[in-house]
Amino acid sequence: MAGKIKRHSIIEILEHWILAISGIILIFTGLGCLPLFKRYYIAEIPGLAWTGDFNTVTTVHYIASIFFVMAVSFHIFYHGIRGEFGLLPKRGDFGQSIKVLSAMFGIGEEPPSDKYLPEQRLAYVGMGIVIVVITLTGIIKVLKNLEWIVLSPNVESINTVIHTLSGFVFMIAFVIHVGIVICFKSNWPLLKSMFTGWIDEDYVKQRHSLWYKKIKNEISEMEK
Ligand code: HEM
Repeated sequence: MAGKIKRHSIIEILEHWILAISGIILIFTGLGCLPLFKRYYIAEIPGLAWTGDFNTVTTVHYIASIFFVMAVSFHIFYHGIRGEFGLLPKRGDFGQSIKVLSAMFGIGEEPPSDKYLPEQRLAYVGMGIVIVVITLTGIIKVLKNLEWIVLSPNVESINTVIHTLSGFVFMIAFVIHVGIVICFKSNWPLLKSMFTGWIDEDYVKQRHSLWYKKIKNEISEMEK
């Protein structure tokens, strides 16, 4: 495609949106499991009566978690096997992230970036750790419901507290992640690429100049 660069494959797009949609459903039904919706009259809003029923929200939470865990496991194995580690942090990312975030507010110049911005790489690890903690504690919560797996009340309640707290951290991370994408116009082309897979060459040249150089080098190597 003239003037465009491939940023995400269809597999990556599916991976992201399955994770995102199941993640949003998990946050919503997780709050329902607490249970908050009946207590705060959300269940009285027309169409939301089901959110006040513990069995229904728990079932939806279970179904969404199947898709979430599938997407997380696929992500780890798929990119691990292919050796795609572009989202892992590099030395100096913290300082560079401050510069990128300041530039989003119009303060200073944005440093040249690779395929991913330094703040994306840091956010990825942060989100990754939270996701691993929620997933493991969630699996323990499912297993302890089986009659042949018995946990001591202490272990069970510590596991539940960790699951709930990491759920809240995940919710905050989600709000920051979506906020950074939506509130800053400079990130809108990235959002578009999360649907189409393609991004403008001029945008890449300007914002992801290190990635642009790598792509151009690869093309000239192939042409030799
Ligand atoms: C629970 C929900 C979600 C999870 C777990 C999630 C996870 C991720 C991860 C791991 C990345 C790659 C690293 C990063 O940029 O931090 C990413 C990128 C991205 N996400 Fe999400 N996401 C979620 C929801 C959303 C939503 C609702 C939107 C739409 C506003 C969105 C838009 C994007 C965009 C635009 C990128 C950057 C793509 C690029 O660099 O080309 N995400 N997401």
